[in-house]
Amino acid sequence: MQKNYLLWLALMAMTACQSPTASKIPQIDSPGKTVRVEFNLTASGQPGYKVSFNGKEVIGQSLLGLDIQGQNFRDGFKITSQSERSYDQTWKPPYGEVAEIREHFNEMTIQLENADKHKMSIIFKAFDDGVGFRYEIPAQDGLDSITVNDELTEFQMTGDHKTWWIPGDWDSNEHVYTTSKTSEIDATPYNEAPTPIHTQHIVDVYSVQTPLAMQMADGTHLVIHEAALWDYPAMQLHINRESLKYIAALVPSAKAPVKSVNKLPFKTPWRSILTAKNAAGIIDSKLTLNLNDPSAIGDASWVKPTKYVGIWWEMHVGISTWDMYGLQDMSSATNRKPSGKHGATTENTKRYIDFAAKHGFDGVLVEGWNVGWEDWFGKWIDSVFSFTTPYPDYDIEFLSKYAKEKGVKIIMHHETSSAVTNYESQMEAAYQFMIDHGMDAVKTGYVGKIIPRGEMHDGQWMVNHYRRVAEATAKHKIMLNSHESVRPTGWSRTYPNWFSAEAARGNEFNAWSLGNPPEHETIMPFTRIQGGGFDYTPGIFETRMSAYDPKKTEVVHTTVAKQLALYVTMYSPLQMAADLPQNYEKRLDVFQFIKDVPVDWKDTKVLHAAIGDHIGLARLDKNSDNWFIGSITDEEARNFDLKLDFLTDGKNYEATIYEDGEGADWKANPYPVNIRKVEVKKGDVLPIKLAPGGGTAIAVFAK
Ligand code: NOJ
Ligand code: CA
Repeated sequence: MQKNYLLWLALMAMTACQSPTASKIPQIDSPGKTVRVEFNLTASGQPGYKVSFNGKEVIGQSLLGLDIQGQNFRDGFKITSQSERSYDQTWKPPYGEVAEIREHFNEMTIQLENADKHKMSIIFKAFDDGVGFRYEIPAQDGLDSITVNDELTEFQMTGDHKTWWIPGDWDSNEHVYTTSKTSEIDATPYNEAPTPIHTQHIVDVYSVQTPLAMQMADGTHLVIHEAALWDYPAMQLHINRESLKYIAALVPSAKAPVKSVNKLPFKTPWRSILTAKNAAGIIDSKLTLNLNDPSAIGDASWVKPTKYVGIWWEMHVGISTWDMYGLQDMSSATNRKPSGKHGATTENTKRYIDFAAKHGFDGVLVEGWNVGWEDWFGKWIDSVFSFTTPYPDYDIEFLSKYAKEKGVKIIMHHETSSAVTNYESQMEAAYQFMIDHGMDAVKTGYVGKIIPRGEMHDGQWMVNHYRRVAEATAKHKIMLNSHESVRPTGWSRTYPNWFSAEAARGNEFNAWSLGNPPEHETIMPFTRIQGGGFDYTPGIFETRMSAYDPKKTEVVHTTVAKQLALYVTMYSPLQMAADLPQNYEKRLDVFQFIKDVPVDWKDTKVLHAAIGDHIGLARLDKNSDNWFIGSITDEEARNFDLKLDFLTDGKNYEATIYEDGEGADWKANPYPVNIRKVEVKKGDVLPIKLAPGGGTAIAVFAK
């Protein structure tokens, strides 16, 4: 009797704990049950979550919430409702690594309310390749907007994983990656005090940027990033090295300690955790794109994947200049004598247009065409450039007509030098000027510190600026490639016209700095490129800067064959043949690969992959049955047997192989490329040899 009574009491107590609306355990499995997300509330009512992958915890107990000025969106919460839905649709990106993307997830929405009557929902999407979650703050009594001082989101690691990271930096992603254990990350905040306005932000913590890739002891790979970053600062991560926990750290605004101000209702970007059983799974994942909204610009069939050349590398290697006067002292008007070194002259542009037309390129980028370059660097003044005034030695009327006759488009360049208010005041006129001159693509640039002062490249104000540019260019049917912008978070799904970006260390660093180590390009596809296409600008044949100036010691840290393979491994629907026409003219047989390689794909297969070591991809041309293979290595020589099991059964193909030639080595002997042709069919195995810092590029033509 006594025993039964106790049992009854215990049962009653258990039922009482369950709120009537939250009868189910707040957890959700992905459609294929590989990924599980569990939601919970701590004793103080702070939301938390855990993630497991293939039955193993990959994100341990981690807290959630927002630090909102004057309001409590941290704790005291109770679940007021819980709902679930499933979604399974296939969508077709206008361009991409694959022609179709399946968006298949189970979603769980947890609505919360706390004692302060604050309402907040957390939405979790469980895909088979990872998790996305975001906060939604609905419109609510007495609150029209929120001021976000920080985000409390945590990512608790379950082991001391091998991690590929770049240091936290509010203004740039152009860093070399370091590989270390989580507990050994020593990225002292890079520039958390760039101006006096931010001195209060010097904090004794370690910080890194996303996409952050990790490998667990059992081979499972994780990538932490964000998706659909709109109207909010970029998320960087502070790390607690003892507890192996990452904590969201939003990039600040000029109004410290405010990070973001948002009108209600408001949804934060998605926080994403990509889960894969190996490195190849990261390449196969379309998690970031899938977490973005469909096109906001309607039909985007006018966006054309583009291959281009340009008046560009010649300035980086120092044989010509952006400004017309050779950066002389501009203090007196009489000093303004043409230096004779200006790159963007009518004559030179004509030469590039001829070269592009002859070799079948779509576009010619022209940098240094407009007035202002004599004042652009390091002066941090507001009115540097005009975006409608060419230098006197650049005959834009003639060149527009000439390019049109030749069937080539001139690609516009807008270096803002981060005088962003100046750019905003000229944007409409600048885009109309482009249209009037037959141009439909622009490369923007944000070198230097942002004006308005105190704003950061990756802060909310700039994130909103980039969106204004994406919208304004879309309105004019202009394609956009941004340099020094915030890193992509899958935005090309929503603004397909914003089709490429730099936002990482590009090939240019090899021209004038210590450069990018040979492993750099084997890390990018798993990190930066998870967010979207990268305008890396490959294709350098003259890899030694001493060829331009005997005093120079800088070199490109790859063999020439690897430069070819990058067109396949470094995804972008916009690819540059970055070297000088005269260098290509000398090696037209090698150049043939760059002419043949497409920039838009029906399918992608991973042939081999290990982050920081090597990657090999086979991609099927969007518009033919031809396959293109790129295989690259870090500083180590490697051999692979490529299994051609992706080819169509019964079809015959001719493969042209561009491989590291005899004795090739990125440092000692970068130039030799051996070209050979072989007949291949489905199921064949092709052995390849990669030199130190080398690569192999293969064009497989269907017969
Ligand atoms: C840096 C960009 O990354 C580069 O491509 C450009 O040439 C210079 N800024 C000048 O705008
Ligand atoms: Ca740059």
